Amino acid sequence: MNLFKNLSRSVEGKIAIITGAGSGMGEATAKVFAAEGIKVVATDINLEEVERVSSEIKSSGGSCMPMLLDVTDKQSIEQCVKSSIDEYSSLDIVINNAGISSVTTVDDENYENYWDDTLNVVLTGQIKLIRAALPYLLKSDNGRIVNISSTEGFGASPFHSPYTAAKHGVIGLTRSLALELGPQGITVNCICPGPINTNMTSAIDDKDKNIYAKRRVGLKRYGEPEEVAHATLNLCLPSSSYINGVYLPVDGGLSIRRA
Ligand code: NAI
Repeated sequence: MNLFKNLSRSVEGKIAIITGAGSGMGEATAKVFAAEGIKVVATDINLEEVERVSSEIKSSGGSCMPMLLDVTDKQSIEQCVKSSIDEYSSLDIVINNAGISSVTTVDDENYENYWDDTLNVVLTGQIKLIRAALPYLLKSDNGRIVNISSTEGFGASPFHSPYTAAKHGVIGLTRSLALELGPQGITVNCICPGPINTNMTSAIDDKDKNIYAKRRVGLKRYGEPEEVAHATLNLCLPSSSYINGVYLPVDGGLSIRRA
């Protein structure tokens, strides 16, 4: 039975570029998207890892093209968009996921390096890819941009100021572009993951993760990359056409907890 016929939940055949797809949430997003029939351009600064992801996707029957992409390098971004268009002729979805984090005090002698490196990857890289992809997204009937921020995008932790500033910036960028590009047929949204088991958090030992999760997270556990990837997919569905400019926490309830 289908009483509403206009809005589809199918993304079959759509084309998506995903950054940071060589591990963690980017890898999970590439795999979840490919399982839905999306043709994935899986990009990362680590080519070996996206080649692995791509061959895993292909051996399960999905479509994936691995590509080396450093999101801080404008030329590399332009080349990536060009190669995607050469291969697939169109582009519907951009997932800005690549990220690095740093822990530093504000008086650290290397602070300015941490600041520049973090802002370049986490924030500036996102707008560079959006600008390069824009002419093609505008031609899509399902233009979707999803930027990965963090619960650090609307909250804060000490000793993470470059990361926190960058993630706040991602939300601001998302909201402004949502108003600018929404009327042109592209929705722009943001996902704010809480603590997720990926390479980024692998240095924290399980005992400390457990203590933190029990104290802070409503669900009392870390999340898994796949749980974030499905939320990202939801924002890309044709039927999500009226979701624009949101920042969606995927954090097991971390951000609603008062104490
Ligand atoms: P991860 O470390 O597993 O994956 C990050 C990927 O980004 C890696 O494959 C890495 O090679 C790639 N990358 C780094 N610099 C790059 C560059 N210059 N160009 C292209 N790719 C680059 O980490 P995770 O956790 O999967 O991170 C994904 C996103 O989620 C990041 O934006 C991160 O800030 C965000 N996030 C992570 C949380 C967590 O608890 N793991 C929580 C909230 C947000």
